[in-house]
Amino acid sequence: MSSNSYDLLVIGAGPGGYVAAIRAAQLGLTTALIDKRKTLGGTCLNIGCIPSKALLHLSEQYHFTNHEAASAGIKTGKVGLDLSKMMKRKDLVVTGLVKGVGMLVSKRGITCIQGTARLSGPTSVIVTTDKGNEEINATHIILAAGSVPVELPPLPFDGETIVSSDEALSFDRVPEKLVVVGAGAIGLELGSVWSRLGSDVTVVELLPRAAAGFDDDVCKGLERALRRQGLKLELSTRVTGYKKGANRRQAILQAEKDGKRLEFPADKILVAVGRRPFTEGLGLEEVGVTLDEAGRVRTDEHLQTSVKSIHAIGDIVAGPMLAHKGEEEGTAVAEALAGHAGHVNYDVIPNVIYTEPEVAGVGLTESQARERGQAISVGKFPLAANGRALATGSTDGFAKVIADKDSDRILGVQILGRNASELIAEAVAHMEYGGSAEDLARTVHAHPTLSEALKEAGLAVSKRSIHSL
Ligand code: NAI
Repeated sequence: MSSNSYDLLVIGAGPGGYVAAIRAAQLGLTTALIDKRKTLGGTCLNIGCIPSKALLHLSEQYHFTNHEAASAGIKTGKVGLDLSKMMKRKDLVVTGLVKGVGMLVSKRGITCIQGTARLSGPTSVIVTTDKGNEEINATHIILAAGSVPVELPPLPFDGETIVSSDEALSFDRVPEKLVVVGAGAIGLELGSVWSRLGSDVTVVELLPRAAAGFDDDVCKGLERALRRQGLKLELSTRVTGYKKGANRRQAILQAEKDGKRLEFPADKILVAVGRRPFTEGLGLEEVGVTLDEAGRVRTDEHLQTSVKSIHAIGDIVAGPMLAHKGEEEGTAVAEALAGHAGHVNYDVIPNVIYTEPEVAGVGLTESQARERGQAISVGKFPLAANGRALATGSTDGFAKVIADKDSDRILGVQILGRNASELIAEAVAHMEYGGSAEDLARTVHAHPTLSEALKEAGLAVSKRSIHSL
């Protein structure tokens, strides 16, 4: 085998791609990993999940110190914001993590190449680096090129006033007025960050609910909490365009609601209406890799594309655009290519929005189960009746368990509340092993913890919650 020939070549070093490369190397495949970015980790680590979580954490601390500390008996001096220092802290988190991933990948003997890859055949790729073009061959190729923000035709990105999450993670000053288009994960998370840091934030959403996709009671509870925090939510509102504002740096978002024209002046407009698979420039057509009607790489149930030697994973294929889904797919494909049985359980992929309170769900929502005509029993427990929630001032929200009426098997769980992102893991584990509401209810939970709310919701499925009526 020549030095530029591998068992596996992975295009894209996000959570899907780098995890696939590590798993393949663990299983003895010679592996190369290509990414055009200088650092590994893709969108998630560099300009997505990780920097947004750092800013959510820091902005929450700022907001608490500024607005709640005094009423909790904590005396502070004058509280101020040094945004550039906060951004540096966020950048430090990212740098540390991407360096760590780089170290893991190189210690596994994976060849990392910084460059842009284009398929030149079913088992070959041309990589353009700053030194020129190089052809690399591999028995198998995994496409893990990820996704990019969707642009709204009436609101084209200009990188300055009309921006995507890429820019909204690094504003150099707090916008006086921020208009967010889209009340999904990105819009609500970044809307929360800038609102906590002092922006007047309006979120404009096409659908009648924020965080649509979760159950209505979850959405309503979240909307109430966000409005209390000062975010303005304009639901059922359709964006029609924008016009220039008072000065070069301002714009006025134009929208329509119930036949009425609305205008929202803004220093920045963050468009967060979804992401689309990034397939341009990969040479898919030339080698015969086909796309589906939504522009995603078409794969079979083994994530194999229309070309036998090429697999695809993560945001570029069907399914939720979530880092952990991509990771599992990367692991499954690497294992299959090494002769093992790789598998992803798509029924049990948790979904989280990291607002305060957080929302998290897994499996079927209550409304999905009802739409399917499934006979269900639902158990719900409010955090206001949970000791730890009371002790830590986080009584907003509830846990809800949706179980099959006959078998008691858990079909889904929805949580609105602090640390819902962590609490959902227990529901995922029960569901992965086919657990019932009774299993959840009989599992011993440490007291006092928020996780007891989940146990109580499990008990409530059979109407025997101890701490609620
Ligand atoms: P999203 O799909 O979560 O939400 C987009 C929202 O925009 C929806 O509520 C939709 O109804 C609304 N919308 C669409 N067109 C609109 C229009 N013309 N006017 C007003 N509203 C409109 O997409 P988002 O937030 O951009 O996130 C992109 C992807 O990244 C998603 O798949 C998301 O799951 C993922 N992501 C996940 C995170 C997490 O796990 N916490 C964090 C950030 C992103």
